[in-house]
Amino acid sequence: MLKTAKHCNRSADFRWLAAAAIVTLALIGCGDGNSLPDELAPGQEPYLRWCASCHGNAGEGKPPTFPPLAGSEWLDLPDEGLAMIILYGLRGEIEVAGRTYRGYMPPMQHLSDQDIAEVVVFMVDQWGDRESDFDVNEVRQLREAFQGRRPPLDGWDGVQEALGELP
Ligand code: HEC
Repeated sequence: MLKTAKHCNRSADFRWLAAAAIVTLALIGCGDGNSLPDELAPGQEPYLRWCASCHGNAGEGKPPTFPPLAGSEWLDLPDEGLAMIILYGLRGEIEVAGRTYRGYMPPMQHLSDQDIAEVVVFMVDQWGDRESDFDVNEVRQLREAFQGRRPPLDGWDGVQEALGELP
């Protein structure tokens, strides 16, 4: 009698262990799925390569050091303004989604025109309230128009100032 009861308990233990193992595996699986999606949207590959280390894989930023792109009012800037932030960098005190940042984003003129155009379209598609058809020729024209301009841009006003200098 006693023996059977013991046997029953042990198999219940095994069932519990198996269930725990399945739950653990499922959790590990989910974790992977969240960090890197299997299928990338257009422009997501250069975004992950050039921007995600500071602004996060999902544009969530890393407050209080790196501001978010998801929910950022800076995506209302014209495409040229966003491309100029990438080309020339940004410094000074800025407001993003209700928070103040005093950081420094390095200029990234080493990125190809193609990567810059794709990243701008990706950001605006993912997190903006508008559409973007920015393309590689517009990035090339920007580079030519601003050759010799000293980086970085100084805050929101600095970006507006640079936009005002557009030919
Ligand atoms: C080394 C870290 C770093 C990298 C890499 C970086 N940024 Fe930034 N970015 C910053 C910081 C810091 C600021 C805020 C600067 C300030 O406080 O004046 C910023 C600000 C911005 C802003 C304006 C504020 C906002 O959050 O909307 C945009 C837009 C932006 N970055 C886009 C990009 C894009 C696109 C890339 C990739 C091509 C990129 N950044 C790569 C650090 C970085």
